[in-house]
Amino acid sequence: MCGIVGYVGKQKAAAIILDGLKRLEYRGYDSAGMCVLQGGRLDVAKKAGRVEDLVEEIARHRFSGTTGIGHTRWATHGGVTDANAHPHVSSDGRFALIHNGVIENYAQIKTFLAGNGYGFKSETDSEVLCNLIAYHYAKEPAGGEGTSCFLESVRKALGHVEGTYGIAVLCADSPGEIVAARKASPLLLGVGDGEYLLASDASALISRTKNVVYLKDGELVHVTPGAFSISTLDQADVSPVVDRITWSITDAEKGAHAHFMEKEIFEQPLALENTMRGRFSEDGSTAVFGGLNVTAAELRQIDRFLFCACGTAWHACLVTEHLIERFARVPVEVDYASEFRYRNTPLHPNTLFWVISQSGETIDTLAALREAKRKGYRALAINNVVGSTLAREADGGIYQHVGPEIGVASTKAFTSQLMVGAMIALYVARMRDMSFSDGVSYVTALKRAPDLVRKALEQAPHIKAIAKRFAPYNDMLFLGRLSLFPLALEGALKLKEISYIHAEGYPAAEMKHGPIALISEKCPSVFFAPSGEIFNKIVSSMQEIKARQGPIIAIVTEGSELPPGLADEVITFPECHEAVLPIVAAIPVQLLSYYIAVERGCDVDKPRNLAKSVTVE
Ligand code: M6R
Repeated sequence: MCGIVGYVGKQKAAAIILDGLKRLEYRGYDSAGMCVLQGGRLDVAKKAGRVEDLVEEIARHRFSGTTGIGHTRWATHGGVTDANAHPHVSSDGRFALIHNGVIENYAQIKTFLAGNGYGFKSETDSEVLCNLIAYHYAKEPAGGEGTSCFLESVRKALGHVEGTYGIAVLCADSPGEIVAARKASPLLLGVGDGEYLLASDASALISRTKNVVYLKDGELVHVTPGAFSISTLDQADVSPVVDRITWSITDAEKGAHAHFMEKEIFEQPLALENTMRGRFSEDGSTAVFGGLNVTAAELRQIDRFLFCACGTAWHACLVTEHLIERFARVPVEVDYASEFRYRNTPLHPNTLFWVISQSGETIDTLAALREAKRKGYRALAINNVVGSTLAREADGGIYQHVGPEIGVASTKAFTSQLMVGAMIALYVARMRDMSFSDGVSYVTALKRAPDLVRKALEQAPHIKAIAKRFAPYNDMLFLGRLSLFPLALEGALKLKEISYIHAEGYPAAEMKHGPIALISEKCPSVFFAPSGEIFNKIVSSMQEIKARQGPIIAIVTEGSELPPGLADEVITFPECHEAVLPIVAAIPVQLLSYYIAVERGCDVDKPRNLAKSVTVE
């Protein structure tokens, strides 16, 4: 989705903003632009297309100012055009604004402003907000002595808008200043050495500072040369808390890898170690979590869990459901966050509500959390981004600690969510029926997960060769059972996201109730067939596909024997504990999707139409 960068300091702003925009590219966007304040003028360069398309434009402007803002736009209101790209400049030329989010009552405000002589060059809701700020600035010298007209005009304008926003604004009359504000759209202030940065995502500012202030909803920050102040929409002063980002710039760079997705797939053993670090009891029989804010006694009173999420994180919820019900024998319900927020579903009073979100900024997931809290439920979050909106609004939770995930297709964040889910299942199980020795075996199995994933990754060259063979197909089915049914959904999602191949995930035995109609030599099926009690049942499903000439890729436990000729290709993964199986089984489908997408020449890290975190409804 849209990205924000801002700079106030002693260096030339353009180069710093351009670097920030490049680092925000992974979030998904369709146009980019920047505005630099120089010589009392707001000079704007913006273009539909990639940041690299903007570079030439920037060079033409010869920007030299030390205050500026930049934006990557993901179109909502108005098509992908140069005019609709941000920054927008008010029709009196005084203000430049970049905006993430949606102004819902923009049409009404636009009519009002048009009646007051303001003109519009774009179809966006954001330009309306920019002109509304100009209107308030022109109307009255806002605020009293000691207050800034610039800041107060932004505050007044925001008082009239409905919707969501992360904004950064420049005023031609206020060199060296930026006013920024947020409501349901992430925004951070970077406190550097003699300089300040604004960003919607830490990756855009981490090359210059690790000291950040996470703005809260309803807060405005006013950056002036050498200082900053934070206040609320109601003009109350806020004491800033400066946090320190724990990861480094190299974590947000590709290194020797061709794509971030490849890097993140191969980082998974380390990511899993980081997720587990310090989270097992000294006696090695259960998990321990620092920030749950739920006592063991309270947790024992819980009769059921409800998990909500979107996309890949929703698949992690489904696996977690399976593990909690299997090991802790507590009923679990899973819902799409986007459905839960409106469904008004009846909830059991002793329900513990959970959300899972890598970014912690997905608007539907946030809305689900808020709805659960409004109803009086304790709501916990599993989240990867420290300081995210979700992390701050949840009553407690578990950080994934896998570092920044830049590839749009979630990989290491997903397996780490599966690990957290497996640990929650253990924690709850040990409070109920799981014995000490079963707990110890479970913990031992989880600790082996990074090595098993390393082993599964060794299949990469083999999977790459399979991908070459299967890349030309246009349809694919992914089939699995029990805890690997969500993996079938995940395999299908991964493939369609980055290779644009139509793919569906199904419980293997459900295939014969409909999807079997699709089977032909043109529609391959990817089967998860782990060893165990239902192996033979899955083999029977494969036979049904083979009888209809459907090509088969079988993902099986090492040492398993399939009837000769049944599978066209076989990928193996090491034998593992049930709680670790979904994590290890994720590797072959991640690699398969990745290599197929590369083979088809797709832009793996920036797939079309997708955004890394979906911050609009
Ligand atoms: O940041 P979140 O985990 O809340 O994101 C949820 C989904 O948007 C996300 O998992 C999406 O499905 C990914 N592109 C999957 O690869």
